[in-house]
Amino acid sequence: MTRFTVAIDGPAAAGKGTISKAVAAHFGFAHLDTGLLYRAVGAKTLAGADPIAAARSLTPADMQGNLRTPDVAQAASKVAVIAEVRAALVDFQRNFAARDGGAVLDGRDIGTVICPDADVKLFVTASAEVRAERRFLELSAKDHEVSRGQVLADVIARDKRDSEREEAPLKPAVDAVIIDTSDLSIEDAVAQAIARINAAR
Ligand code: CDP
Repeated sequence: MTRFTVAIDGPAAAGKGTISKAVAAHFGFAHLDTGLLYRAVGAKTLAGADPIAAARSLTPADMQGNLRTPDVAQAASKVAVIAEVRAALVDFQRNFAARDGGAVLDGRDIGTVICPDADVKLFVTASAEVRAERRFLELSAKDHEVSRGQVLADVIARDKRDSEREEAPLKPAVDAVIIDTSDLSIEDAVAQAIARINAAR
């Protein structure tokens, strides 16, 4: 098989990562968590770097380490509003999407900006409360000292910033299929995604 691109977008902690990994494993596609690119730039900015320079010089090594923390998530969404930061990351994402053997990319603007011609576009969402609870459990399991209220406030603040920005705001592509995971098990959400992809192949 040659190229086949699956775009998975949605708000914070909606289950994009879990679904993307499962879909990639099922079909043998490569997976890129594009949030890690913005988290890596955010982390470098917290360490004192200029965000545009950080985005332009990003290396795979910058994606290692513990980037899935609340502070880095907020920093990521702040650098993600900067047009030059986003522009610096476009080619890497498009090249990844075009690789032989198929690719799944998850993020905020994959179906709208990065891969408008993706073969399948999914928009994975859930209520803010459900998403915050999932993120609370994920962070608590990693020994982060967070409260449910703080995690909910963080998720809402990030969604607002991501949705209201000028550049590549978070929104479903017109041809995206919406999967609301509020009342779905992981297995059911993954099964829905796989069914959509099978229908498009
Ligand atoms: O995992 P979670 O949904 O909490 O966030 P993430 O996917 O790791 O993304 C972190 C932040 O990066 C988001 O809040 C966005 O501000 C930004 N981002 C973006 O602007 N565009 C993308 N394609 C992916 C992430």
